[in-house]
Amino acid sequence: MITPPHTVFSEAAAMTSSAHLSIHNVSKVFPGKRDWFSRITHRASIDYIALDQINLDIEPNTFVSIIGPSGCGKSTLLNIIAGLSQPTTGAVTIAGLPIAGPGSDRGVVFQNYALMPWMTVLENIRFAIETVNPKLAVSRQKAIAQEYIELVGLQGAERKHPHELSGGMKQRVGIARALATNPQILLMDEPFGALDALTRGFLQDEVERIWEQQRKTVILITHSIEEALLLSDKIVMMTRGPEANIARILDVPFPRPRHRETLDQHPAYHELKAEMEAHLSQETRAVEESRIRRPVKA
Ligand SMILES: Nc1ncnc2c1ncn2[C@@H]1O[C@H](COP(=O)(O)OP(=O)(O)OP(=O)(O)O)[C@@H](O)[C@H]1O
Ligand SMILES: [Mg+2]
Repeated sequence: MITPPHTVFSEAAAMTSSAHLSIHNVSKVFPGKRDWFSRITHRASIDYIALDQINLDIEPNTFVSIIGPSGCGKSTLLNIIAGLSQPTTGAVTIAGLPIAGPGSDRGVVFQNYALMPWMTVLENIRFAIETVNPKLAVSRQKAIAQEYIELVGLQGAERKHPHELSGGMKQRVGIARALATNPQILLMDEPFGALDALTRGFLQDEVERIWEQQRKTVILITHSIEEALLLSDKIVMMTRGPEANIARILDVPFPRPRHRETLDQHPAYHELKAEMEAHLSQETRAVEESRIRRPVKA
């Protein structure tokens, strides 16, 4: 078993147990187009209120999934937590401190991998470590990168470039890269969405295994009800947009470690699954109906 290199990231490690994440009254408005071209072509648009007054508290070491209809604002919320986008109103705090931008306390796994194409697997991960801890000896950076390559089962692929990897392998590099800097909080935006069912299931099991070892705070965006039930302690169900908000938060009571083969034997499994299915189909149907009712411009 691999021990995460807490000692080399003393600042992050010191904060590991106090990573209480608080989302307080967060709203996000995307301004409509009002440039001269949009005006004269009558394409000027009104502001779009994506998120409306989101409040959410996440205890340290909790695995939280966010689920909601397509376009409701899940990525918008994750990007705000990552510090890649600013909320229009409200704030996100970690251990009581407002976040001002991206930081080494948060690791992000992107849906589209976002690997450096000219770097090998090892270099992609080592580079992330160097960015967070530039004073660390390169040999140590490589040793840590190697540990995380093994953690995600990529031994043998160290010297490959991204174009030589399958989608599942690229996603493993993304996970290793996010974990290697020892963030307090791991943010994942539909990390398995583009994968085939078999690889997806395999990587879900890997994430469950790694979480058992490291117990970080994780926020996972997913469209998969089964994935959310397998991995999460809590499931945040969002309403449709515009002005999306949190409809309900479900507690997932299944004991860990969890195994996909036996999960549905838990007495609460089918009830939780049915509740999520009902919520998603109700919200998705409402989105479709509002599209049909919307007048078509001539
Ligand atoms: N930069 C932007 N400018 C204008 N509108 C945006 C911008 N980014 C997102 N939006 C709008 O905000 C809403 C929420 O988008 P977001 O990408 O967060 O949805 P999502 O829940 O992640 O959807 P999906 O499940 O399809 O990934 C959408 O209506 C989208 O069109
Ligand atoms: Mg999204």
